[in-house]
Amino acid sequence: MATILVSGGCGYIGSHTLVDLLENGFDVISIDDLSRSSEYALAGIEKITGKKVKNYKVDLKNFDETLAVFQENDSIAGIIHFAAYKAVGESVEEPLLYYENNLFSLINLLKCAAEFDVPHFVFSSSCTVYGNPASIPVTESTPMQPAESPYGATKQMGETIVRDMFSNNGGAAILLRYFNPVGAHPSALIGETPLGKPQNLVPAITQTAIGKLPTMKVFGNDYPTRDGSCIRDYIHVCDIAHAHTLALQYLQANKYTENCEVFNLGTGNGITVLEAIRMFEEVSGRSLAYSMGARRPGDVMAIYANNEKAVQQLGWSIRYDLKEMMRTAWNWELAIKETEEKVKNN
Ligand code: WQD
Repeated sequence: MATILVSGGCGYIGSHTLVDLLENGFDVISIDDLSRSSEYALAGIEKITGKKVKNYKVDLKNFDETLAVFQENDSIAGIIHFAAYKAVGESVEEPLLYYENNLFSLINLLKCAAEFDVPHFVFSSSCTVYGNPASIPVTESTPMQPAESPYGATKQMGETIVRDMFSNNGGAAILLRYFNPVGAHPSALIGETPLGKPQNLVPAITQTAIGKLPTMKVFGNDYPTRDGSCIRDYIHVCDIAHAHTLALQYLQANKYTENCEVFNLGTGNGITVLEAIRMFEEVSGRSLAYSMGARRPGDVMAIYANNEKAVQQLGWSIRYDLKEMMRTAWNWELAIKETEEKVKNN
């Protein structure tokens, strides 16, 4: 059976997508150098699906090692490319680390795809390509603004590289622009495992609530929004994952009208930071220790998606609401604590 190669399969969105692909009958392999992830995710995937996933511990910046994976798996029917660094702040401090890692990895993967005539490619992009949008909600034709960070620039450049690659090689690609992926698989067997102090809102909330962090800051409550805090489009990671399965099926069914199509993956609902915190408190029954802080450089005031194109063309639907996003994120944090305590006591 044709195999789907998932790069970054041990990461947050990659692991959830492997589960969804397996549950929809695909054969999969993963390439993940484990520099920012762990093979622990593969154990969770096996518990959820009953299936083992082979991960090649390969640095995609090494072309020969990457090519060897294709030589060993000659029936790769599609690629989903997640593997990339994604910390906005780190990218500002170390731009070359981001340009080298995110772009060299992508280019090597595309060179292998060309050598082995892999017809379908799904690229993990981000709403960050819109920068600070002139109007919201954003549609796929909302003009890109200059990237707010080198991380965002690698996503914009990555889209251009994929588009140029598939414009005349007979294959087809899809660019998926995620808004803010949050939450965890309902089983609490896989989830987000930020390295070090969490930069993103939801892991900062759950780690504060569980006591790993003494408190957290709300970055700005003086924005011209309904409660002064920033607005984002939080979307459950399982809804993001399923969109990748639908994107592959769309490509394999030849439903595409252009060789490179773009889809926004958001709920279409703009939620403020304070509303997200309040929902977490309602779901967890915990009162969160937070304080108001200064605005974070690079933050946009508000962004959320018009997701009609993905809904109508991919047949995508949103299955998890904000309550479920917070509940699954909290259950995952509780599961991590339980595992850490078991390890400590053994
Ligand atoms: C959300 C809101 C913060 C932490 C980035 C990338 C995007 C995607 C998701 C990869 C903002 C506020 C946060 C905290 C806070 N990355 N916040 N206190 O910046 O919207 O998006 O991560 O896929 O591409 O750009 O996400 O979760 O960092 O912030 O007040 O401790 O929460 O100011 O308003 P962001 P985020």
